[in-house]
Amino acid sequence: MNAAILAIETSCDDSCAAVLAGDGSILSNVIASQGIHDSYGGVVPELAARHHLTLLTPTITAALDQANLTLGEIERVAVTQGPGLIGALLVGVGQAKAIAAARAIPLVAVDHLQGHVAANFISPDPFEPPFVCLIASGGHTLLARVDDHSSFSVLGETLDDAAGEAFDKGARMLGLGFPGGPAVEALAATGDPEAFDFPTARNVKGCDFSFSGVKTALLYAIRDLGEAQTEARRADLAASYQRAIVEALIGRLTRALDASGLDRAAIGGGVAANGPLRQRVAALGVSSHIPALNLCTDNAAMIASAARFLPDCSSQAALELDAYPSGGQR
Ligand code: KG4
Ligand code: ZN
Repeated sequence: MNAAILAIETSCDDSCAAVLAGDGSILSNVIASQGIHDSYGGVVPELAARHHLTLLTPTITAALDQANLTLGEIERVAVTQGPGLIGALLVGVGQAKAIAAARAIPLVAVDHLQGHVAANFISPDPFEPPFVCLIASGGHTLLARVDDHSSFSVLGETLDDAAGEAFDKGARMLGLGFPGGPAVEALAATGDPEAFDFPTARNVKGCDFSFSGVKTALLYAIRDLGEAQTEARRADLAASYQRAIVEALIGRLTRALDASGLDRAAIGGGVAANGPLRQRVAALGVSSHIPALNLCTDNAAMIASAARFLPDCSSQAALELDAYPSGGQR
């Protein structure tokens, strides 16, 4: 498909718009982070939706300006349909429907997780299926078998928390801000990853994940150390906690590669921005693809990338398009 695509992503707290050229290269990728949820220790759904209402239009304008295109030159519009926060999603879906109807251009509905997979298809270095994709974000952690550009099948997923959620909750226990992943990574840089032997859920069978054990282990370690020792050893705690999460992810990715017989691996989702995880994936000894940092955390370029390989909604379906908070493609 050879058309400039405008994509909108509002599934959580980032208002995102991007323009992709027909060849899959990025013309613009704008992310307006709301920056208001930190003081609440997590995303407040109602606040996220209200801020999308304010931020989305200027974000789309910025994406068009940076791409040096007018709305009249856009040939398709894509939007995240779900999963995510329903109020937040509806702002994006409403905006995309309005643009498609007003400009009489096709609308493409995109699953957010397919978007994280499709971050790997972006030019100039697209990674071609088949491959195993580890998707680890704040809301999801799963292993996907990707045989084509428009779908995936699930090889395993988390039985409890998502990996990003584990980072965020661990960060809170360590007195760090939200989102927790980058804060834990920064603190861990000066700590000893072997200092504490936190569990990696090796006994969970197959390609499924579990992060409740490592979370509880950190809680107990903090309780046993007491306030003064915890303060003194925060970097060691962060480094050991991060190591356990990364090893759990890498262990399952290795199992998924073995089980699928594939020797190609990719990653996606916010946790894929984690430095030690990226290093471990690069050192797996298989052909691997690691998207740029701003294509791992939520963005609209990945939604446009997924849309390149998806059909347009019929005009009736475009008018009736609704968001879904969970489920979807999986
Ligand atoms: O994909 P994403 O931007 O949004 C969701 O779809 O959830 O992922 C956000 C998650 C948060 O939990 C955040 O703490 C985590 O990704 N994250 C990281 C890093 N950057 C973001 N986790 C570990 N290391 C990072 N550098
Ligand atoms: Zn995401």
